[in-house]
Formats: sequence, structure tokens, C-alpha cells
Amino acid sequence: MHYDKPPPAPNTNCYTLIHKYLSPSHPLYGTYITHVTLVTQLALKITKGLKLPYKDYVFIKEAAMLHDIGIIYVHHPQILYMHGRYPYATHQYLGYLILLKEGLPKHAKVALRHGLGYYNYEGKLIRPRTEAEKIISYADLFYSKSTEKLWHLRTTNDVLHAIYNKWFPKNPTPYVKFFMQLHKKYGPFAFS
Ligand SMILES: [Fe+2]
Repeated sequence: MHYDKPPPAPNTNCYTLIHKYLSPSHPLYGTYITHVTLVTQLALKITKGLKLPYKDYVFIKEAAMLHDIGIIYVHHPQILYMHGRYPYATHQYLGYLILLKEGLPKHAKVALRHGLGYYNYEGKLIRPRTEAEKIISYADLFYSKSTEKLWHLRTTNDVLHAIYNKWFPKNPTPYVKFFMQLHKKYGPFAFS
């Protein structure tokens, strides 16, 4: 009798890991799960469009669900119940430390590098490098974590507007350039 080879099992249960740090009874939980689920959905749409191998699909699914786990330790008054002790800008590094501690170095790097880029304490530019990191970062730009906009899919113009006026008002050009690089590659799959 012939059996098809089963697909590789995910190497982590995202929900078990998320619940270890953020209980479903925590008031921030709904925001976290909604945001990462929407980002994961968009990232996987791009992954499918690019016809990446199944192992990449599984990794992107896990890493997208975990990419913002560092927010549990930050303080950000604009987002409800985010009352940690560290500045919001450290959430990438805090997520990296959490996932590294959990034995997931590749997922940890997604948490560390997600976004359009920032300078670390050594003045080094940290930005997504791998395809998975770029896909998740791109998808993440289209969803906010603020309650009233949580489910709202930003348009490309919304993202550009945010880069110019909110995220990088002092020096938007390199970030716009990087966004447009990602948009050229992933946009057709994300919004087809
Ligand atoms: Fe995010």
C-alpha cells in the first residue's frame, strides 16, 4: 500500500508559546492575537503567490504569529493595556530575547529585524534580510495595533503617509525606498 509522505509538522506550537507569555485572560491578548493573525494571513498569501516551499510556509506562519511577542514588556499609551516598563522601540529586541530563550533563533531574528529598519545601540542599521523576514515585515506594515484600526487594512498610500508623517518624519527617503522595493516584489501577490 502506498502512503503519501506527510507534510513536515510545525516545530513549535505558536499558541502554547504565546500563552506562556500572554495569557488569554490578559486584556492585551485580543489585540495581540488579532494583529498577528491578520499579518500572518497576508504574509501567507504572499508566500503562496511566490510558490515558496512548504517548509518556508510553515516557518513564515510561526514567525509571523510570534513576531511581536516583545510588546508584552513595552509601554505604549496609544495602545490599550500596553503597560510594560520598556520603550516601544525596544519591542523587536525584547521579542528576539524571548524567542532566543525559547530555542527559536531563526524566529528570534524575524522579531529582531521586522520593520523598515532602525538603528540599534551600536548605531547599526537593523532591517529584514531574509525573504521570510521581508515578507513578514511587508505584511506587518498594513496593520496597526491600535484598537480602532486593528482590523483595518491600510492602503499603500496610508503606509507611505505613515512613513512620511508618523514613523520616519525626519528622514523618510531611505524607508520609502525600502518599502517600494518590498512593494514591487510582494504587492502583486498581497493584493491580487
Ligand atoms: Fe506587527
